[in-house]
Amino acid sequence: MNDAATRAITGLVRPIEDWPEPGVTFRDITPLLSDPAGFDAVLSAMADAARGLGQLDAVLGVESRGFVLGAPMARELAVPFLPVRKEGKLPAETRAATYDLEYGTATLEIHVDALAPGARVVVVDDVLATGGTLTATQSLVEEAGATVVGHLVMIEIGALGGRGRLEPTPLTALHTY
Ligand code: PRP
Ligand code: MG
Repeated sequence: MNDAATRAITGLVRPIEDWPEPGVTFRDITPLLSDPAGFDAVLSAMADAARGLGQLDAVLGVESRGFVLGAPMARELAVPFLPVRKEGKLPAETRAATYDLEYGTATLEIHVDALAPGARVVVVDDVLATGGTLTATQSLVEEAGATVVGHLVMIEIGALGGRGRLEPTPLTALHTY
């Protein structure tokens, strides 16, 4: 893996203990986003990983932190950026996927006309935790008859087992805690 990206993540992503609730260590990416060289190193490493997945028709970014990484990556790869949004935000016809949170559920949506059948896409987010977000996003892609050729995250929280939920679809994480 790209050393500059690893250094940027380990040096600039800030752990916030006991947030949003006791016992959770939140990985705050905002110091990394405000460091142009570090942000550039991460984006370059993610774009390189995406290039390794073969031909790509689009980058999907998951609202909201997946937008911050996915949109500049799509630009670097010169492929369309497709937003996967939280419920009720997209104006045209949508398909939706609901997934479980610790308390309650959440719903993600994509425009019905965003993906052509047979499209090969990569899904980008900042963090993989339980895998609920990426699993729901993959189901939206597959309902459209398209394929997730890989998931790509900056940070994986290994203890939560998200990687196993995504198998056999490949997951690339720039850094695992
Ligand atoms: C966070 C993070 C990932 C997701 C990971 O997003 O940005 O998208 O949780 O968790 P999971 O693997 O258990 O699904 P969040 O839903 O908090 O929203 P945000 O990106 O808008 O901050
Ligand atoms: Mg998120």
